[in-house]
Amino acid sequence: MTNRDRQPFSGSDLHYIGPPSSYSFSAAAVSLKDCCYCLFLLFIFLVLISLAVALVLLLVIRPKKPVFDLQHVGVEHLLLTPQSSNTHLEVGPAAAYLSLNITLQFRAVNPNTVRIEYGAVEFSVLHRGVPLAEAQAQRFEQPAHSSWMVETRVTLSRFNVLQADAFDLVEDAELNDRVELAVAGDVGAKALFLGLSSPRVQVSLFCAIVISPSKQSLTYKHCGAHGLNV
Ligand SMILES: *[C@@H]1O[C@H](CO)[C@@H](O)[C@H](O)[C@H]1NC(C)=O
Repeated sequence: MTNRDRQPFSGSDLHYIGPPSSYSFSAAAVSLKDCCYCLFLLFIFLVLISLAVALVLLLVIRPKKPVFDLQHVGVEHLLLTPQSSNTHLEVGPAAAYLSLNITLQFRAVNPNTVRIEYGAVEFSVLHRGVPLAEAQAQRFEQPAHSSWMVETRVTLSRFNVLQADAFDLVEDAELNDRVELAVAGDVGAKALFLGLSSPRVQVSLFCAIVISPSKQSLTYKHCGAHGLNV
């Protein structure tokens, strides 16, 4: 009697339910593992693809600095008018007025395999570090592997040179027939590729120029390399 009483409650009935349930659990675990594996592979694949694309873009776009230099200075006119002081006791001119009309021709060379875009260009014409005038060029795009000329004009009309510099300026012009100026500025450029643009690279320009007032022409030009690859 004890057997019949125990049978319905024996553990063997419960043990039969065990195997199928544990089987279905392990099947689910396997498919979840497969899924994770596939996602992992997909992830690795995507990472490799984007690395390859980034590498190709880097090799293609990696912008070389454009060359931007002052090729030619055309002198329309330069006139230096000293203004003598009223009293003859003072030595040298009290003031000097400089009128200037020159063209600056820059050579822009794009050595890249892609287009580049130059930001607005602003150059200063200086005398002894003092800016006298600005030369501007609009932003422009330049095709791959090309060399362009960019021209700007600088004009000054009776610019009152700082008194401290007037004496030197007039003396140099009268005795040595030379007016020494500098042209300085920065140009920012970006490489353009498939609608993307590279980080900005900057080209700095500094040129010393000497103009002869009697010949009304350029007698000397020297451009220093300030981060410019020439
Ligand atoms: C500068 O020179 C050019 C060419 O001679 C002339 O057309 C222009 O009017 C001049 N500009 C000034 C401000 O004198």
